[in-house]
Amino acid sequence: MQHVITLVPGDGIGPEVTKPTLKIIKATGVKVKWETHLAGAEALKKHGTTIPKQLMHSFEKNKIALKGPVTTPVGEGFASVNVELRQTFDLYANLRPIKNLPGVKARYSNVDLIVVRENTEGLYSGIEHEVVPGVMESLKIITEKASTRIAKFAFDFARAHGRKKVAAIHKANIMKLTDGLFLDCARRMSAHYTDVAFSDLIVDNACLQLVLDPLKLDVLLLENLYGDIVSDLAAGLVGGLGVVPGANFGDQHALFETVHGSAPDIKGKNIANPTAMILAAVMMLNHLGEEKAAKRISTALETVLQRGDRLTPDLGGSATTTKFADAIIREIER
Ligand code: NAI
Repeated sequence: MQHVITLVPGDGIGPEVTKPTLKIIKATGVKVKWETHLAGAEALKKHGTTIPKQLMHSFEKNKIALKGPVTTPVGEGFASVNVELRQTFDLYANLRPIKNLPGVKARYSNVDLIVVRENTEGLYSGIEHEVVPGVMESLKIITEKASTRIAKFAFDFARAHGRKKVAAIHKANIMKLTDGLFLDCARRMSAHYTDVAFSDLIVDNACLQLVLDPLKLDVLLLENLYGDIVSDLAAGLVGGLGVVPGANFGDQHALFETVHGSAPDIKGKNIANPTAMILAAVMMLNHLGEEKAAKRISTALETVLQRGDRLTPDLGGSATTTKFADAIIREIER
């Protein structure tokens, strides 16, 4: 069977981490027809928009996409590609597995967290205005509908993956109506999942607990802004942004991506770590039912990381992106 997948190589190091990832997928024998589209700064240069219509049509049709990081040009009038894609296709659930990898130095070992972030509302609703000169207002939108469906997603995920605990992270002590509703929806949903333990943590305490003892936590359920911040903090516990993938799910569409950005400081040097992109591809293959190929890739990746002689500079090595990826391909073909 051939899969048709929308591909956004992205900006900066995006193409450098995407190209070897496609070679790695090819090495497993999985057949993919890639429909490649620009987005972000490169698309702006070529098509005069950061989100070309062709990309939206392709993703609408294929329902599955692999996306490298994109640069959002600073300044007014440029929609964030990520926010636009999430809102247009109602990709309401952002999932980030935060796990130690063999051979990757980190502050902790045996960390195995799942961050589930609500992706469509909160302070990312984009409703901002000037009240009077010198006073700006940004509206935090929390709805029962979105809070209930993300809570259901987190509990369903926990149950399907044998996870024992879900913790809702909030600031309901201060934002009694908005975060209060988010927490209330999570609490009500928890009543339907008696096999999964439920707790809640105030977001500042959650950050403290994560840094002190991340092994105490399991599935984290957060609204948009807290999810964004806490998932980067959690990535720092297992070796940084270069090794953490992310997925965005709607009822119809799924988009797999890196958590890191386009890293303009190392663009074109062939030293970017493609691990996050490769792990995003592993998540995508699992989603497509290609579990065997996904397992072959993650095993090969872990072998190369563990051996430690082909690591990129961010992991303390001196190998190029190409050398690291080629070593993974050799492991797959072994
Ligand atoms: P960044 O994640 O691009 O870079 C932060 C630091 O991490 C840099 O020192 C960079 O060299 C390093 N780094 C990131 N990924 C790496 C990798 N795979 N291998 C080795 N080192 C890596 O964050 P920054 O600089 O804040 O953002 C740059 C651009 O990326 C901005 O335009 C931002 O809007 C965009 N961005 C896009 C995202 C996406 O498309 N998913 C997510 C985050 C930022």
